[in-house]
Amino acid sequence: MCGIIGYVGREQAAPLLLEGLRRLEYRGYDSAGVAVAHNGSINLRKCAGRIQNLSDLLDGNAPNGTFGVSHTRWATHGEPTDENAHPHFDQSGRLALVHNGVIENYQVLREELEAKGHVFQSQTDSEVLAHLIGESYDEFGGEHGRERLLKAVRQALQKVVGTYGIALIHLDVPETVVGARLGSPLIVGLGAKENFLASDVAAVVSHTSDAIYLNDYDLVMLTADEFEIDSLEGGKASYEVSRVDFTEEQAEKGDYPHFMLKEIFEQPEAIKNAMRGRLSPEDATAKLGGLNMNPQELRSVDRIVLTGCGTASHAAMVGEYLIESLARVPTEVEIASEFRYRNMPTGKNTLIFAISQSGETIDTLAAMREGQRKGHKVLGICNNVASTIARESDGGVYMHAGPEIGVAATKSFTSQLVVLNLLALLLGRMQHVSVTRGMEVIEALRALPDKVRKILEQNEEIKQIALKYADAGGMLFMGRQFNYPAALEGALKMKEISYIYASGHASAELKHGVIALVNENLPSVFIAPDDFVFEKNVSNIEEVKARKGPVIAVTTEGRTELERICDHVIYVPQCPDYLSPVLTSIPLQLFAYHIAVARGCDVDKPRNLAKSVTVE
Ligand code: AGP
Repeated sequence: MCGIIGYVGREQAAPLLLEGLRRLEYRGYDSAGVAVAHNGSINLRKCAGRIQNLSDLLDGNAPNGTFGVSHTRWATHGEPTDENAHPHFDQSGRLALVHNGVIENYQVLREELEAKGHVFQSQTDSEVLAHLIGESYDEFGGEHGRERLLKAVRQALQKVVGTYGIALIHLDVPETVVGARLGSPLIVGLGAKENFLASDVAAVVSHTSDAIYLNDYDLVMLTADEFEIDSLEGGKASYEVSRVDFTEEQAEKGDYPHFMLKEIFEQPEAIKNAMRGRLSPEDATAKLGGLNMNPQELRSVDRIVLTGCGTASHAAMVGEYLIESLARVPTEVEIASEFRYRNMPTGKNTLIFAISQSGETIDTLAAMREGQRKGHKVLGICNNVASTIARESDGGVYMHAGPEIGVAATKSFTSQLVVLNLLALLLGRMQHVSVTRGMEVIEALRALPDKVRKILEQNEEIKQIALKYADAGGMLFMGRQFNYPAALEGALKMKEISYIYASGHASAELKHGVIALVNENLPSVFIAPDDFVFEKNVSNIEEVKARKGPVIAVTTEGRTELERICDHVIYVPQCPDYLSPVLTSIPLQLFAYHIAVARGCDVDKPRNLAKSVTVE
């Protein structure tokens, strides 16, 4: 999961390449570098550490030149060192390349190249790819130029097993950047007398709103004024120019200290956008045109599989409860990395949903392709418009949450829950859900944004509670029914941004082993809204208190009896049980956020993580 940029135009490349890297830092941040060509040489600057280290290196010493490539790394092969940072040269030093992805057969290729006298400076698979292209370029001989370079790139990539999004420059083809993709996202940003290559439109949004989302096996050659997109196998490739659907300020933090806090506070708007144009009060149902399935096809669905990773899998678990309770369609969740290998027995009327904020998670992409290989329709629930999953799926529903830059998923989770509620309503109203019930769901959905706002107004109180637990050595999160997945999600938030070990459990599992952990130093967070299992949750809380375990409860306004037995109580507005995870997850996001900040963690770019897991 790295970020790559290429630039060719009339401006000095280095500042633009560095600016773009800052927008992609959430994709990986253990080392970074730029390579810019000028007057017959390629000047390389790269180093371990954050992009700020690279910026310091360039300060007053930026290479001149108007075409170049840059990279921010999340290490897959080789530690985060200066040598392993990208860009990488080929043997001649006349080609520089940056790469996002994994070359699975790089060892074999490296040995073959070493046998031909190649000498490598790093441990990376990406440097092998640079040398492989350089070797092909030398083999073709003849006059220098663009056709020779394209042929060399084609030949080299056809030897590769794995995934790549690459950008490269060659001194024999001045003022030109070449790119290619297979399994890792890559877009072309079309500017005025300048063009960009980037892993994500966020990197170019301040320079252009016109982007081409490249497809697997696309090969692109850019100059300042032109671009050409071919297929790796030869011939022209089809493409379409899309308008980028978010603005520069949306890709910025604004007045917030972290993207994560901004995105937590964007949830009222994000939830509203997830519903926009999709509620049909006149028919007491939802409208989801992107499913590309008519009512007859939807009615014939006799089983649903929801798949995704991390937070998306938690949303899927809520979706399972939703669809089964509202639409009575048998539904199951399988995390994508398991689904892709499980060979699940499915019938011809099984419908699969791939849930993914980025739309690029490699396991979810593979799970989708496996489902399609078995002949199933696979629909995507994605945030990233024109992402690979969005484009390759058989239809789906965009979350419209806006860019989510913080590595920890927040607004994407609640937006996924809203979309799943809309889906359950639509399917339910095609079966046996009444007009009255349908209208109840619609009214409850419409009331959500204001209820979320009310919870966000408690930010300071939640912060004060969080600060009391910033030194916890571990944490338990408990919930039942619709809030069991919310407990898992709360634990994941805590783990991934504060580095406190946390586990999520169905509350009743307490007595099946978990309670052995309870002691006065291990806080338990109970999600116990005013639902039909409230009393059961209260019993579980009593069991923890009986063993001196501190308890923080998230419950519905009015259930003040919990103040008698809990150490802290956070209230959320009343809502139907099927919507409660949308509300209860928000205090847990803030709880984890404030603890992480108090612990000095890098909230937006937690260690070892990246926003989109595009490598296995
Ligand atoms: C959640 O906070 C994490 N960032 C991670 O679990 C994430 O949800 C997972 O990698 C799936 O990402 P996706 O939704 O982009 O596919």
